[in-house]
Amino acid sequence: MCGIVGYTGDAPAAKLLLDGLSRLEYRGYDSAGLCLLNQDFSTVKTVGKVRNLAEKVRDCQVDGLVGIAHTRWATHGAPLEKNAHPHLDDGGRVAVVHNGIIENYMALRSRLEKRGHKFISDTDSEVIPHLIAEFYDDDPVQAVAAALRQLTGTYGVCVLFRDLPGLMIAARSGSPVIVGLGQGSNMAASDVTALITHTRNVIYLNDGELAVITPEKVELRTLANVPIEREISRITWDPDTIGKGGYEHFMIKEIFEQPEALANTIRGRVLPDDGSAKLSGLNMTPREMAMINRIVIPGCGSSLHSGLIGEYYFEDIAGIPAEVEQAAEFRYRNPIIEPNTLVLPISQSGETADTLAAVREAIHKGAVVAAISNVVGSTIARECGRGVYLHAGPEISVASTKAFTCQVAALLLMSLLFGRSRRLSGEDGREIGAEIARLPELVQSVLDEFPTIERIAKKYAAFNDFFFIGRGCLYPVALEGALKLKEVSYVHAEGYHAAELKHGPMSLLGDRVPVIALANRIPGQEKLLGNIEECLARRSPVIAVVSGEDANVAKYTSDIIRVPASSRYAAPITTVVALQIFAYCFARERKCDIDQPRNLAKSVTVE
Ligand code: AGP
Repeated sequence: MCGIVGYTGDAPAAKLLLDGLSRLEYRGYDSAGLCLLNQDFSTVKTVGKVRNLAEKVRDCQVDGLVGIAHTRWATHGAPLEKNAHPHLDDGGRVAVVHNGIIENYMALRSRLEKRGHKFISDTDSEVIPHLIAEFYDDDPVQAVAAALRQLTGTYGVCVLFRDLPGLMIAARSGSPVIVGLGQGSNMAASDVTALITHTRNVIYLNDGELAVITPEKVELRTLANVPIEREISRITWDPDTIGKGGYEHFMIKEIFEQPEALANTIRGRVLPDDGSAKLSGLNMTPREMAMINRIVIPGCGSSLHSGLIGEYYFEDIAGIPAEVEQAAEFRYRNPIIEPNTLVLPISQSGETADTLAAVREAIHKGAVVAAISNVVGSTIARECGRGVYLHAGPEISVASTKAFTCQVAALLLMSLLFGRSRRLSGEDGREIGAEIARLPELVQSVLDEFPTIERIAKKYAAFNDFFFIGRGCLYPVALEGALKLKEVSYVHAEGYHAAELKHGPMSLLGDRVPVIALANRIPGQEKLLGNIEECLARRSPVIAVVSGEDANVAKYTSDIIRVPASSRYAAPITTVVALQIFAYCFARERKCDIDQPRNLAKSVTVE
């Protein structure tokens, strides 16, 4: 997820663009750039945050009345200056900033290179200006539309033409673009936070639409060049929530981003025809996958919990023994690694010290290593040299939410792929693939339960001790739910296997110790109903998460959180989203510092 902003008007564009970019940094901040038109293009790029770009622009003393700018969250191509946007065609006639993922960029790039185009970056986005230049004679709108029709994937773009000063074309498909209407000037950006200091009058573009923008007017067209009328919207919310996209905290913003984040993780990776998955970043042939006879998953915190769910997936779907290791433990215990062991570190940040050390230990012992990470070019990703990027967009809140569910989705994709290199049939693979494709929609259904979950969280806001219990692949979800609650609200919460309570912890139960029971309809759920009865017999209040219209639990408790009925493979993701919302609402009710909880850091780069 990246941030784009463009301006055309009667004022120097550089300051407006930099101000807009700074408000979009929550969307990505590993590199940034801008392009200004003043007779010719002046392009300035940096790695790092927008403030680095501002310093460089000041030193270069460039400006113009029209410009485009970009702050990047790398997906294709490491966070290097050459990969920063804007990108231009060979002839320097077209400049583009892009937010999204172009799935067919390799084929397009190869075709363009055969026609003599020279590429500078490793990005997918760079094909866009080259394509536009290919189609551009004297009609810029037609050239942009023709180029965008070639793309598979998602885009939000702003485009400038060197020989058409004052003109900017914006377009979207799958990535947001909003047009800001000023007096004698107009803008376009990824979201209103970049526009609100300039104007509160905006037009929201829909997928498949483009806006032809000059300082005097804005015209909307379809890609077929059919004019569109669209009402002007007025932004009323307070700019002090800028950077959180209108949400009160990054945590709730990232919880609600999960349908989009999951769609980005999954995009182009489910192969319905083959009943398989495509994870080219693993760089492994089916034969190499078939040779793997054990998977070890080192991780920490939430990444350890997602690994525990992956353990179930790999064994159930791919028939491969898998074990999760607390990374700090793995690195010091001289682990047994054979040549056909795959070590699969999971790390959102890609910088966690213990997980990085586990990677280095695995490499010393000759393991095949591949990382699951959310940060392109992170240390763990680079030292593994292969793996699966989440494409979930930056996760700012210390409490991991969207990265966690996207890690689980990535593990499910990997299990499907490895399973198909073994005994998993095409038909079973198609069924699992269809379930993976449904994840964004299933999660949206859970988000729609927010008011119910909020009410229950408020009801229990005075309690200070909780148990989360689950079975099977929901046991790791119980651990993650307890971690979320601990992290953001500072109350004591324990995740436990439901069958374990009677082996000791049950002595803690009582009317001041609520139990959150994960009672989705998955194998072993009927046993969990018995565990609920055990808890009620010790006077613990029970909050139950159930799937679909399950009526079994209603006789035990009125505090029921419903998630959509799904397979056991999707249940961990839908259930954890309900627990994320519970933890957020509980902490908000207790007025905790949700995005930066006390004593914690987003990335633990020390032992
Ligand atoms: C998750 O909510 C926590 N902030 C923490 O446990 C985190 O998952 C852990 O530090 C691992 O981080 P990583 O995924 O970036 O390696």
